Amino acid sequence: MAQSTYTSVVLAKRPAAEIVPGETFAKKENPMPSEKDLKDDQVLIENLYLSLDPAMRGWLNDRRSYIPPVQIGEIMRGMAIGRVVASKSPKHKVGDYVTATSGWTEVAIVPAKEVTPLEVSANGKVTDALGVLGLTGLTAYFGILEIGQIKEGDFVVVSGAAGATGSVVCQIAKLKGAKVLGLAGTDDKVQWLKELGCDAALNYKDPEFASKFRESTKDLIDVFFDNVGGDILDLALSRAKPFSRFVMCGAISQYNSAAPVGPKNFAMIISMRIKLQGFIVFDFAAKYAEARKELSQWLAEGKIQRKETIIKGGLNAAEQALLDLYKGVNTGKLLVEVKPEESGVGSRL
Ligand SMILES: NC(=O)c1ccc[n+]([C@@H]2O[C@H](COP(=O)([O-])OP(=O)(O)OC[C@H]3O[C@@H](n4cnc5c(N)ncnc54)[C@H](OP(=O)(O)O)[C@@H]3O)[C@@H](O)[C@H]2O)c1
Repeated sequence: MAQSTYTSVVLAKRPAAEIVPGETFAKKENPMPSEKDLKDDQVLIENLYLSLDPAMRGWLNDRRSYIPPVQIGEIMRGMAIGRVVASKSPKHKVGDYVTATSGWTEVAIVPAKEVTPLEVSANGKVTDALGVLGLTGLTAYFGILEIGQIKEGDFVVVSGAAGATGSVVCQIAKLKGAKVLGLAGTDDKVQWLKELGCDAALNYKDPEFASKFRESTKDLIDVFFDNVGGDILDLALSRAKPFSRFVMCGAISQYNSAAPVGPKNFAMIISMRIKLQGFIVFDFAAKYAEARKELSQWLAEGKIQRKETIIKGGLNAAEQALLDLYKGVNTGKLLVEVKPEESGVGSRL
């Protein structure tokens, strides 16, 4: 690395509702570290790809949650794929590709125990480590299998179905013999969901969506995998089968709202005896390796397809890309390319 400085992005001001470009985050230039700055069991990582996640908006709120908020002045939290450029750990050598929660930064010094070596599975690519084999794939896996308790013949409805998590949920549900209806925000995404094997897919921005949804759920829903909350959750509640399971994975429609709303059809939970359960993927950390093995096998066998939307432009592009995530810019996993790859990763994509 010939550069004398590197860039990171820090939280400058907590947004009240939507992220405010140029105000919420600030860029910071830092002196470039080198091997001599490492303590024992630390590694110096150069980031290549940054994962953008809907949950990031929640991490900016100063309130109790499953994880502490990002503090003002702190580097914005985020998972990244990086390459080890210096190491004082026997576990990681220079040139290794790894994942770590190193954040919105070009380079980072990270404790070796917080760094995961990256393995590319057969039929796989490096960036799968932030997608199908990363936290979104694992969320899909544990959400639909452990929380949804899916079984053959279930009628499963998935919101946010063409995103990183939703697209994997739909495919696992099909692999397990369910009938699947996917919901997404564009006709292209609807088309992709059908290519993935969904029995039906609907564009929730279609003016006729509510009536089409009622028509498509005549048989009533066994499992609802919810990524979005809001009106779609309300509609799903109105079509729930008695003793159905509602997998509460996310509520992206509410994340940017200063006054988030809960479901109006709440009483359906009682009358239909719905089991509605929230979860956080971290709850299943002890089983990640097992799940990755099965997901890798499905990838290798071509039983799971995936798309990714990679935004170029380095860290400068991260803020806008995050704003665009909430507008549905992505099909499949959304990533920012932190550093144009000239030395090998690109050829494996
Ligand atoms: N519980 C957990 O441990 C856990 C872990 C990871 C993710 N999650 C949650 O899972 C959900 C999906 O996350 P992801 O990382 O896979 O993101 P993603 O689905 O790849 O991307 C977000 C998608 O949400 C849709 N969307 C945005 N605003 C919406 C709105 N107002 N109404 C309906 N859809 C909207 C957009 O697609 P359209 O074009 O279809 O609108 C967008 O592409 C999020 O709610 C996230 O917080 C939970």
